Amino acid sequence: MSQRRLFVTTALPYANGNFHIGHIMEYIQADIWVRFQRMQGHAVNFVGADDAHGAPIMIAAEKAGKTPQQFVADIAAGRKPYLDGFHISFDNWHSTDGPENHELARQIYLDLKKAGLIATKTIEQFFDAEKSMFLPDRFIKGECPNCHSKDQYGDNCEVCGAVYAPTDLINPYSALSGAKPVLKSSEHFFFTLSDPRCVEFLEKWTQDGKLQPEVANKVKEWFSVRENADGTKSEGLGDWDISRDAPYFGIEIPDAPGKYFYVWLDAPVGYLASLKNLLEKRGENYDAYMATPGLEQYHFIGKDIVTFHTLFWPAMLHFSGRKTPDNVFVHGFLTVNNGEKMSKSRGTGLDPLKYLSLGMNPEWLRYYLAAKLNARNEDIDFNADDFMARVNSDLVGKYINIASRAAGFISKRFAGQLGEVSADGAALLDTLRAAKDAIAPLYESREFAKALRETMLLTDRVNAYVDQNKPWELAKQAGMDARLQDVCTVCIEAFRLLTIYLKPVLPALATQVEAFLKVGPLGFADAGAMLGKGHVIGDYKHLMQRVDPKQLEALFEPPAQAEPVPATPADLPGGEALAPVITIDDFAKVDLRIAKIVNCEAVEGSTKLLRLTLDAGEGRMRNVFSGIASAYKPEDLVGKLTVLVANLAPRKMKFGISEGMVLAASHADEKTHPGIYVLEPLPGATPGMRIH
Ligand code: 2FM
Ligand code: ZN
Repeated sequence: MSQRRLFVTTALPYANGNFHIGHIMEYIQADIWVRFQRMQGHAVNFVGADDAHGAPIMIAAEKAGKTPQQFVADIAAGRKPYLDGFHISFDNWHSTDGPENHELARQIYLDLKKAGLIATKTIEQFFDAEKSMFLPDRFIKGECPNCHSKDQYGDNCEVCGAVYAPTDLINPYSALSGAKPVLKSSEHFFFTLSDPRCVEFLEKWTQDGKLQPEVANKVKEWFSVRENADGTKSEGLGDWDISRDAPYFGIEIPDAPGKYFYVWLDAPVGYLASLKNLLEKRGENYDAYMATPGLEQYHFIGKDIVTFHTLFWPAMLHFSGRKTPDNVFVHGFLTVNNGEKMSKSRGTGLDPLKYLSLGMNPEWLRYYLAAKLNARNEDIDFNADDFMARVNSDLVGKYINIASRAAGFISKRFAGQLGEVSADGAALLDTLRAAKDAIAPLYESREFAKALRETMLLTDRVNAYVDQNKPWELAKQAGMDARLQDVCTVCIEAFRLLTIYLKPVLPALATQVEAFLKVGPLGFADAGAMLGKGHVIGDYKHLMQRVDPKQLEALFEPPAQAEPVPATPADLPGGEALAPVITIDDFAKVDLRIAKIVNCEAVEGSTKLLRLTLDAGEGRMRNVFSGIASAYKPEDLVGKLTVLVANLAPRKMKFGISEGMVLAASHADEKTHPGIYVLEPLPGATPGMRIH
């Protein structure tokens, strides 16, 4: 077989939270496929990146008191323990805010413009005058026009399910400031997917048989006249709004100051940017690589982002004169213990880092998920009892058991040397070897559950052979040494073959087996060979523990909660729910100091802020802006002591740099419960003292 060149990606996660089990499932699925390809001798570049841009990330960063760049960098810094922990073999992890992506996204846009597929149109949208920004649908709330439930999002009602435009909401308000949004018009850029060239191209690209049938069928609906949830009709492909107005964390559109690419325009470009970043680190040329004849490009994604990957993305690539994906592999959602769907933002249920910190083996999860995954986009459920049964009875009970039943005799009785294989053993091994031709295509077509089922049927045959030949009895019989060595040799060779078939799923275990068998890295081609007579294997150390039910109990034990959370905001003390419990170590990260307010003045151009000059005993003064102008006159505060968050990263504001934050109390709903109260220590405290 000639060597294939593959470029493989997983969906780029938003950089506003840690990975949850849904991400890990997708990475495991893609990683198994990639490892299989590498074991076939193919050359794969497997990349990921953080999806850094967009309004939600910008807003989250502001809330956290960080620049968006710092915010996404902090999220990125937490990725490694997950990826290493679950043996995900990405060749690169990058960011859509990297320079490669800025350049590529702008270039693709310019190429689309040249192709005559960019148009502008003035549209009206809700604008938050207090925040000076257009509001994304998710940041507009109000009363549902259908069932009149309060506090519903701008795009749909979570109570009655109605879908509507934000302008349909009754008494809309900005979820950012509480202000009443006003309608404001602005010019937007569109990718004209309704252009007959795009329609023709996409109808072909999506219906030529490459996509999973259920995906192709879903996509087909988007080309025809269809009824929306609210009863209105949409006709075929609409033009795609690809711009957002400043302030926006994203990539500025060439020759359009103040206009940025909508995050979904530059997100998939991030696949190419991460690849380019990887190749350049290796001293290879990106353009040359993309021009490699026969290069195959695949994207693993969830079923919620099919539109972006089967319509917008291939059209962007094709009409900018670039290579289009060879396929998009769509998986379903993961539920945990029949629970709710893994929500993108919440991801409740099974915390991947907790899983690892409990000492649970990452390959148990890889094996379990593989045993459930197929090539369709069906949802799968993680069920704790099923997990334990499959790992303990199949993986450990059937497969690992083969080695542990045979290895001891080989090392103790035959100094680790393998012997002859007699006819009955050879027949068994032939069956195992021939199974490669059934198992490899199952991996290729992402039918992992079937690949493992085939492999487990083989383990049954090997275990039946062991039961028939009873090495433990042969070992006690005089004159049966040669037969004992023969039977155990068959078992070891069978174990080697099974390890090849399981290696895409269990890479770390396979590495241990390779060391134990004293062989090099196993590939699928090694199924054709055999460990010869006289080959010496190492000492067997137990390869894998069973799942302990206590671990599962601990995994799903809900985190300790300080207080039952009252039902409605009005009942809550201070108007907001308690934040999640933190440890004393978390608290110790915050360095709170007594500071003296040596000066305080109004800030020109701001009705909210006061500028404080603080002495926290450091031999220098700190400049801190605080949103307390509505509550205090500057002269009320001069000379007072207060509490400063002293190790907060300095923050650049419109009026200068703020070097920390002063503590103050307020009700969550300042409109109904006005008042801000700056904290002051009891007498005796002096500047610089730490608060513990
Ligand atoms: O849905 C999401 O989580 C997106 N961040 C996926 C982006 S995939 C690709 F286009 F970058
Ligand atoms: Zn409703």
